[in-house]
Amino acid sequence: MEKKLEKIVSLAKRRGFIFQSSEIYGGVEGLWDLGPLGILMKNNIKNLWIKKFVMEKENIFLIEGTCLMHPKVWEASGHLEHFSDLLVECKNCHARYRADHLEEGKFIGKGKAKEKNQCPNCGGKSFTEPRKFNLMFKTFLGPVEDKAHQTYLRPETAQSMFTNFKNVLNSMRAKIPFGIAQIGKSFRNEITLGDFIFRSREFEIAEIEYFVKPEEEDKYFEFWVNEWENFFLSLGIKKENLRRVEHPKERLAHYSKRTVDIEYKFPFGWAELAGIANRGDYDLKRHSQFSGEDLSYFDQKEKRRYFPSVIEPTLGLERLILAILLDAYEEIPGGRTKTTKPTKEVEVLLTLDKKVAPIKIAVLPLVKNEPKIVEKARKVYEILKPHFFCLYDEVDSIGRRYRRMDEIGVVYCLTIDFESLEKDDLTVRDRDTMEQERIPISNLVEFLKEKLQN
Ligand code: GAP
Repeated sequence: MEKKLEKIVSLAKRRGFIFQSSEIYGGVEGLWDLGPLGILMKNNIKNLWIKKFVMEKENIFLIEGTCLMHPKVWEASGHLEHFSDLLVECKNCHARYRADHLEEGKFIGKGKAKEKNQCPNCGGKSFTEPRKFNLMFKTFLGPVEDKAHQTYLRPETAQSMFTNFKNVLNSMRAKIPFGIAQIGKSFRNEITLGDFIFRSREFEIAEIEYFVKPEEEDKYFEFWVNEWENFFLSLGIKKENLRRVEHPKERLAHYSKRTVDIEYKFPFGWAELAGIANRGDYDLKRHSQFSGEDLSYFDQKEKRRYFPSVIEPTLGLERLILAILLDAYEEIPGGRTKTTKPTKEVEVLLTLDKKVAPIKIAVLPLVKNEPKIVEKARKVYEILKPHFFCLYDEVDSIGRRYRRMDEIGVVYCLTIDFESLEKDDLTVRDRDTMEQERIPISNLVEFLKEKLQN
């Protein structure tokens, strides 16, 4: 199973999904760049998220807050006091670890760790007492580097949705229940990393703060758990690889009354993909207290004032990308096209959902040494480019090119052959069924649009 992760890492780099940040300098742990295909895939997921949770809802409003905020925000939010992990240091080699990761045996089999509480770096078993390590990245606002100008890169996107509660309420004439949605970068100085993009120091969160009447919080909690899970299923994640896990009281974040994680069965075990928290009135009350601005809500209909409860569904986009890639990855020993000769080749197929696939269409002239075929293929490519993300490829045999496209999940391969010159048509090959049909070039755009939408 761990092997599958290695294969995804290799495919992601080889085919332009994900690269290590600053690779030419040896890379930086926990920082990853999205390549040409990775960013298209991420944008597709973001757009689907916005469509489902903003465009199709009448009471959820999208904002984009800043990554740097007033330093007081982090005092009010409780992050300055509570957003920390317990850190221990190996007394022998001075490597540092998250205490719970060592206790859980996360490193067993990695490096020199053969058992729990053993240093993977040197095998040592003696550690310093755990101490709190705050995960927020410190920085300074302005040219003076003193305590008064110190702030933090946001560790979650949530806070600007709370500080903008009144702005959105008033500008959008919102009424409870309503939500504020945001997608944005978050930064955490994680102590231990690994597992590819699963735990990074810079990543992107998509989350909603949904403000409800306090007495309706349980109803909306269930609603959001279902909405979140359905969203993952709609992106092609397999149901059997998802489960819901209720946080025990002692593991709840400082702001949470209740949290349910949606876990995915990663190759390294079940782990958090997303979560739904009931933050109660913690944040609005704290920001009222610290800012002096009353963030309570006046319910016109019920003629009463109260602090709404907040249900927060949240997800990490990098973890979602990883889960989608893992579920879409298939290997077909001997290849999908049956030949009479046995072959050792293993074909890779990425069965990405059509909506998520970064490249929808590949345009392939059957041969590259027939100028009329090449010319026609280039014309088709020019017609399609304004409508879809396409690739044009004329190198290697048509079989090899199909396989190259299957490996990155291209949904349809269009082949321009000798018959195309006479009939002004081409073949459309479906990635999953490998079935081909001949389609006139004249209504190709409409045909593909319809296919991609259904
Ligand atoms: N506002 C709530 C919040 O930030 P969280 O569970 O701490 O909740 C949200 O983070 C999501 O961000 C998680 O469900 C997870 O998918 C993702 N996430 C958290 N830490 C991460 C990290 N270090 N690297 C990548 N993704 C991370």
